Amino acid sequence: MRFSGVSLAALQLAKAAGAKVIVTSRDAGKLERAVQMGADGAVHGATQDIARTVLEMTDGRGVDVVIENVGAAVWSAALKSLVRGGRLVTCGATTGDQPGADLRRMFIRQLKVFGSTLGTLAEFRDLLALCERSPMRPVIDSVYPLDDVTQALDRLESGRQFGKVAVTVG
Ligand SMILES: NC(=O)c1ccc[n+]([C@@H]2O[C@H](COP(=O)([O-])OP(=O)(O)OC[C@H]3O[C@@H](n4cnc5c(N)ncnc54)[C@H](OP(=O)(O)O)[C@@H]3O)[C@@H](O)[C@H]2O)c1
Repeated sequence: MRFSGVSLAALQLAKAAGAKVIVTSRDAGKLERAVQMGADGAVHGATQDIARTVLEMTDGRGVDVVIENVGAAVWSAALKSLVRGGRLVTCGATTGDQPGADLRRMFIRQLKVFGSTLGTLAEFRDLLALCERSPMRPVIDSVYPLDDVTQALDRLESGRQFGKVAVTVG
């Protein structure tokens, strides 16, 4: 997973579920912060081959689940990082929503692809209850007043944010 609001939430949820988590980013500073938050392994996507490094980190096995929110730019690496029968959860397409499907890899390795969008009110209540009994919190990169919303958008466009960029209203 990479380092946006979605990824940092996924990192915390996966750790709360007891998973071993490998993260990837093009930014070494973001990786360092993710490791401080509990990530077990970090792959620098700009200088390392993501799939090869993940396989090395898992003794050639591959990971059970990939949370994928980047889209076309990393889709192929995400599929190649999975163990036989592994699951890819897709929930974003920041870099494009039409990657090569890699069908042969999907059926030969018996991979499963799940789509995910938001959740139900009951799931949201469960999430709030989890936050109450654990240190899990949304990661806020920065907060801007509504009058400075263009600065907030500039911050998002820069890609330097680590977590959510929030805007206060009123
Ligand atoms: N399904 C849902 O319910 C749901 C809910 C919320 C958001 N989303 C979607 O989830 C995605 C993530 O949203 P977000 O706001 O958390 O983050 P985001 O700002 O869209 O960025 C996600 C990450 O993508 C990576 N990235 C961007 N361009 C890249 C490239 N060319 N190559 C490799 N990596 C690249 C960056 O990681 P690094 O800088 O770390 O390399 C960035 O932090 C969006 O597409 C959003 O629409 C879906």
